[in-house]
Amino acid sequence: MILVTGGTGYIGSHTVVELINAGFETLIVDDLSNSEKEVVDRIEQICGKKPAFLQLDLKDRKKTFELFEKYPNIEAVVHFAAHKAVGESVEKPLMYYENNIGSLINLLNAMNEFKKTNFVFSSSCTVYGQPDILPVTENTPRMEAESPYGNTKKMAEDILRDHALANSAFKSIALRYFNPIGAHPSGLIGELPRGIPNNLVPFVTQTAYGLREQLSIFGNDYDTPDGTCIRDYINVVDLSKAHVVAIKRLLKKRNKSNYEYFNIGTGKGTTVLEIVKSFEKANSLKLNYKIVDRRPGDIEKIWADTTLANNELGWKAEIGLDETLASAWNWEKKYRS
Ligand code: UD1
Repeated sequence: MILVTGGTGYIGSHTVVELINAGFETLIVDDLSNSEKEVVDRIEQICGKKPAFLQLDLKDRKKTFELFEKYPNIEAVVHFAAHKAVGESVEKPLMYYENNIGSLINLLNAMNEFKKTNFVFSSSCTVYGQPDILPVTENTPRMEAESPYGNTKKMAEDILRDHALANSAFKSIALRYFNPIGAHPSGLIGELPRGIPNNLVPFVTQTAYGLREQLSIFGNDYDTPDGTCIRDYINVVDLSKAHVVAIKRLLKKRNKSNYEYFNIGTGKGTTVLEIVKSFEKANSLKLNYKIVDRRPGDIEKIWADTTLANNELGWKAEIGLDETLASAWNWEKKYRS
């Protein structure tokens, strides 16, 4: 059984689907602070198999230990559960450190106690900040984090590295995601931000649906071909498959060191305007947008070198941008209706 913390969330739910499709039994643990219990039924609709579910806040050390007592057959953990809003983290840093770091420590302590050794962590390209040389490889130096949220990802990586160093039996893989977008082709699960979306693609789909009046593009005076920022947008299903591969690598003991980390992106940079154009083309519609000032804290450009993940994990992003943006629109429409 694979324990997926934050398994009703955006990336978590897609990963549970891919784990079930790969034949794994899954257990979702989520505090439902930013997701809906209904996702569990939707996963069942997609896979024909229901994941086990437990509502639990991993900040509760006692309950986290009890979880491992109750489910002795947990073979590996994929840890998504965390707060992820950059702006909110600047306003409430203690909440972010307490939740993102506290939960990780409780989980690792419980795993230690119950002799569980396989751990996959949800990290982010945010650890690179604005790199000098592009694309970024895993050897690109990590930068001082721009926000408490980003810092929790960087600190979590350090904690895993140190823990692995001190415990040779413990094995972990951190996956540094670039920008996950899109939704499951069934349209049954997808990204569901509460309130006004911070991220680009949910804002785009909500604008197309008429929930938002206009998309604001944050700056067109960057040093990029069309002046808008560049990111590496990765399809969430492709991204989820990387977790399945990472789990298999740990279970088959194919890992080369007991703490590994990989870039998970497409290897291709896309500007904000290219996203808008691709969205319009893929879905045959026009999007209402305007160019506004730069958003403070945004980096100009980043994309991944994914050679290591390609070679070591045998994983590669496969789904194209148009198809991904069509899936995002399909999800938005289906969910709203
Ligand atoms: C942000 C976080 C990253 C986190 C990710 C979660 C920072 C520096 N990075 O990435 O750590 O993992 O969210 O998905 O905060 N944009 C617009 N208009 C909008 C929204 C976004 O033009 O309404 C532009 C942004 O300026 C950016 C691009 O779209 O160039 C992507 O933005 P977003 O989806 O928010 O992701 P990141 O900022 O890259």
